[in-house]
Order: sequence, then C-alpha cells, then structure tokens
Amino acid sequence: MVFSTLFSELYHSIKKTPNSGEVAQYIPELALVDPNKFGVSLVKLNAENFHFGDAQEKFSIQSIAKVLSLTLAYKICGEKLWERVGVEPSGTAFNSLVQLEYEKGIPRNPFINAGALVVADVLVSELKNPNDDFLAFVNQLCHTQVSYSKQVAASEKSCAYVNTALINLMKSFGNIKNDIDQVMDLYFNLCSIEMTCQELSQTFLFLANDGVCPLSEQEIIDHSKSKRINSIMQLCGFYDEAGEFSFKVGLPGKSGVGGGIVVVRPHEFSMAVWSPKLNAKGNSFLGTKFLEKFTTKIDYSIF
Ligand code: DON
Repeated sequence: MVFSTLFSELYHSIKKTPNSGEVAQYIPELALVDPNKFGVSLVKLNAENFHFGDAQEKFSIQSIAKVLSLTLAYKICGEKLWERVGVEPSGTAFNSLVQLEYEKGIPRNPFINAGALVVADVLVSELKNPNDDFLAFVNQLCHTQVSYSKQVAASEKSCAYVNTALINLMKSFGNIKNDIDQVMDLYFNLCSIEMTCQELSQTFLFLANDGVCPLSEQEIIDHSKSKRINSIMQLCGFYDEAGEFSFKVGLPGKSGVGGGIVVVRPHEFSMAVWSPKLNAKGNSFLGTKFLEKFTTKIDYSIF
C-alpha cells in the first residue's frame, strides 16, 4: 500500500473536524509554535518510508523522549529499575502530585513526570556525562544528529513549579539520589530534544523490531525488554487518556506536549504524527484523530 496517498486523504477528511485543541501554554517557548503545522511519517522495517505535510520540520518531542530515557535506564539497570518506579497506569494527569504521597515517592510508571524524573536520576547515577551520553544514545537510534534546544529547556526551567514539587517530594522519600538541579537539567534537556516526524519514526523503529535497530542491525535492548516497553506505552503512554487511545487507535505509543505522537505496530512499522494543538489531556487533538482514522480504515490496530 502507498501510505502517502492515504495520509493525504485522511488529513483532508480530519481537517473538516474543528480543531478545538490548544497549543501548550505552560512552557512559554512552546506557545510560539504555529498551531497549523501538521506532519506524518511512517517507516517500515524494510526501510520503505512515507511522509506527508510538515514531516521534515523539527518540533519539540517533550515527553516522547521519556521512552528513550527509559530504554537506556532499563538497558543499564535491568529489572532492579522497577524497585524505584512502577508499571501501572496512573489514571491521573502527566504532572499530577496526588498519588506520590500515598505511594511513598514511588511513581506509578516511567512516563508520568514523576516517573521520568526518577529515570533521569538513574541516568545521572549511571552515566559519566549524562547530557552528552544520553544524546549520543538518541543519535545512534535516529541516524542523524539531533540536539537539545537551549531555549526550550531554559523556558521550561523558568516555570517548573510542579516538576520542582514532584522531585522534592520524591527526594524526601529517598527516591532521588542525586542533586535535584542536576537531575532536572537532564530532564529539561531530554524533553527539549527536537526532531522531525521522519527522525522520530526512524528513532522508534527498534521497538517495532524486538529491540533491534533494522538499519544498523544493532541490538538496542533485548527482546523481552522491548516487549515490556511496548506494553508500558500501551497502558501508560497517554496518561489519563491511555484507555481511550487504546480503544480508538489500538497501538502502543507515546505523546508529548509539543504535539507529537509516536506509535509502533510490532513487526511492521513505526509512525510519527505532529499537530501542536492539544486536547484537555495534553495529547495532540488532530494527531489522535488522524491515528484513529488510520488504524480504523486499514484495520491496523494490534487487536
Ligand atoms: O515536564 C513537562 O511538563 C514537559 N517537559 C513534558 C510533558 C509532556 O510532554 C506530557 N505529554 N503529553
């Protein structure tokens, strides 16, 4: 199937739906993005790839990077990682504080902000040069040179009131081992990574291929861990909208407040969509609609 034609058809049909979302405002730099951008890119395991719209334009991947930090921390620590962060859906917003006190500073999963901060803490403990080493890991996956955005990282740092509360609460329970500023700097940096849809779909292809990057044939993470990361994406990748995303789209994936969504269909492809306006749960409004139409039209959910 030539996906580019299908992308164009689906895009023109969802454009008729009023885009009632809002571009993320709480990180000032993200509020400057053109709300009308739309890109989509699909890469198959055999390297065939299809793109549409603004697929070659860089955007802030934000929480999508949490899958990559989890991959590296899980690769290094193995199952011991789960002593510090859970694998259960939270049913709460991505930056919620409510469960953390009851659950003694152990975040529900690695994709809510609290969990991603613990994963960043693990990387600060384990890597010699955490910021450089993490970026080198990401570059090995996407096969191009991507970088942190200094402006976006600084912009997030300037008003990180909730993340500061989350990390301090976890530090009080002993679940943050390093200096808070050092951990937060790595966290803001990893969220600030900029990629195109094309780079993003390429980066996630290893999760559609049992942990092996099909281009380099290098094992990024073992088969069992790759399956487990996909299962966490399926259940926790969209926060308190994870059930609805699974219900309507039916693929493991991850969203970011920059308006990106990446999904994988194991043993077939990885796909990235970008549209900056977000729904009330912080997930791309048109991106979600597009993926729902895509998997419905060609019966491509995993179920
Ligand atoms: O920590 C934050 O709030 C942002 N850097 C990332 C949040 C995010 O992308 C949530 N995803 N939908």
